[in-house]
Amino acid sequence: MTERARGESSGVVGNERLTALIGAVVLVLSVAEIATVPTLGSLIVAHFFVGVLLAGPVVAKTASTGWRFIRYYSGDPAYRRKGPPRLLLRVMAPVLVVSTIALIGSGIALAITGPAPEILIRVHVVSFLVWLATLAVHVFAYVRRVPRLIADDWRRPLPRTRENGAAPGPSGRRMRLAVNIAALVLAAIAAVLLLPTAAPWEGWRGQAVTGLGVLAVAVCIGTAVAVMLKRR
Ligand code: HEM
Repeated sequence: MTERARGESSGVVGNERLTALIGAVVLVLSVAEIATVPTLGSLIVAHFFVGVLLAGPVVAKTASTGWRFIRYYSGDPAYRRKGPPRLLLRVMAPVLVVSTIALIGSGIALAITGPAPEILIRVHVVSFLVWLATLAVHVFAYVRRVPRLIADDWRRPLPRTRENGAAPGPSGRRMRLAVNIAALVLAAIAAVLLLPTAAPWEGWRGQAVTGLGVLAVAVCIGTAVAVMLKRR
């Protein structure tokens, strides 16, 4: 049953489609970033670039889900009708957001400081482990809805309604695409500007990085298998 058939407002559906599209971008970049970890010494430049690139879509994702959060708690009838996320996801959401900010924030701080401060490396590794675990559950819960939500934006464009104050016609899809492209372009500019900071790290052999990398790849494969089994 489509969202429209469920009587959901185009604002709510538009927000959900925006979150799903950004989620897909975050998923691709997260898997690419995890793939650099097992051989970090030789892939440190790619790790820096993809890590900073990820910051753009993550900010956009936090904004789109934050909008839903604010509209829900400020009593917006349409968002109230949609209801909150399931309890486990609701409880985990702040952990996912905070671990993501700690992971990317400590990564950028390490790019600026160089390999010196051990504490920053510890924050980066611990937030990575918390992020990996919470993201795996989050992706397992949502990844099956993402392709349909993105495809719907092309198959079933949302009508412009009085509610969003515009004349009838397809709306929002271009804005959703523009938000994603803007987030990626701004992050790519920052990533290029930060690339020279990778030089001191070239050849860096951190303890246990390979083990962390293998663990991360194993969690990705495990999540993918779980999603496929659930689908079947
Ligand atoms: C760094 C990574 C991510 C962060 C910080 C993040 C954050 C959030 C938050 C806070 C919510 C609202 C609470 C909830 O429903 O659980 C949410 C919802 C959602 N996320 Fe993520 N997420 C991330 C990655 C992803 C990925 C990789 C996907 C794609 C598989 C995804 C797809 C979704 C979907 C479909 C929703 C529900 C949207 C709705 O019903 O309105 N997220 N995300």
